[in-house]
Amino acid sequence: MANMPNDFWSGWIIVLTVFSFVVMTWSIFSIYFSRKAKAADKALQENEPVWDETLREGHAAPPMWWFWFILGTCVFTVVYLMMYPGLGKYKGAMEWSQDSRVESKYANFEERFADVRETIAASTLSELQANERHMLAAEGIFSRNCAMCHGEDAAGQAALFPNLMDSEWQWGGSAEAIEKTIREGRTANMIAWRGVLNAESIDQVANYVASMGKGATHGHPGEATFGQYCASCHGADGRGNEMLGAPNLANEEWLYGGDLNAIKTTIVRGRNGEMPAFNDRLDDVQIKLLVAWLTRDLMLDTQVAKH
Ligand code: HEC
Ligand code: HEC
Repeated sequence: MANMPNDFWSGWIIVLTVFSFVVMTWSIFSIYFSRKAKAADKALQENEPVWDETLREGHAAPPMWWFWFILGTCVFTVVYLMMYPGLGKYKGAMEWSQDSRVESKYANFEERFADVRETIAASTLSELQANERHMLAAEGIFSRNCAMCHGEDAAGQAALFPNLMDSEWQWGGSAEAIEKTIREGRTANMIAWRGVLNAESIDQVANYVASMGKGATHGHPGEATFGQYCASCHGADGRGNEMLGAPNLANEEWLYGGDLNAIKTTIVRGRNGEMPAFNDRLDDVQIKLLVAWLTRDLMLDTQVAKH
């Protein structure tokens, strides 16, 4: 455990804990039982000051039940510090720790679901898709890990996170491509064209892109610019390139919005959509369920590549 104190600090904590415990216990015992305290008590009783003729100082020793109560907590403290972590690095007789508790829960979990997990690992995607229970489990995994960005229904959000329910796949819609997207993440790289193109060319090319899906005509003033600067990624016909994550611009589905203003903003500022990698956060079975869930409308029968 990297954040545990080193040996010096561990020893220091033990010394402080034991010292303050001993001092506290000693002072409580001395209040109740030391000879000096008893003598002072007695002297006070015999020589009780009286003020203003009838006003007595009054005196009462702390009650005994209080002492037993404090003694009980002291005993509890000693037992606790022997059983559980509390003295520096000493783990306690029970060797209890949050880590081991999580581990033992996880072991139970593995045991309980081992059969189901084996079934899932051995099924094809279409078998999983046909099983309502597996699809519900997949929906739960999506809801916990993906919905904050892609939305509960996976229909995308805020023109920032792509719709996963439409037919357009920026990075490829095969089971293999989707699995790769989830495992490794994706970073889109569309540079800002502000410094490269002047305002007129940006206007023209934005107009050209906006009209592409509606069947752009040859001879459009933005066509030459598109061919020169954009076609290398988006393709001469604007149909995109899944290897680069360059989306299809020649249809009516848009990640960042298809009106002229949104298109212009994209071109001027660039876009760098980032899909995080889930390889370390989800296991093979969870990823397989997600792939099956995301492709359930396509009813693919491809096996997810085994890893
Ligand atoms: C932090 C936000 C975030 C989370 C969480 C997230 N994603 Fe994404 N995801 C994105 C962004 C942004 C993109 C688009 C990347 C780009 O612009 O190329 C994306 C893209 C994708 C794509 C590619 C879509 C395409 O058209 O090719 C898939 C598939 C996908 N995500 C699935 C998932 C799944 C499954 C999960 C949960 C395990 C998930 N995402 C969690 C932000 C997120
Ligand atoms: C280096 C490759 C590359 C070049 C060159 C390039 N793009 Fe892109 N473009 C991308 C990628 C990758 C994305 C996806 C960005 C994202 O997902 O965040 C994108 C996204 C877009 C979008 C947003 C599409 C949507 O669905 O919202 C538009 C519009 C666009 N590009 C237009 C252009 C234009 C116009 C040019 C030429 C001036 C151009 N691109 C040049 C790679 C490129």
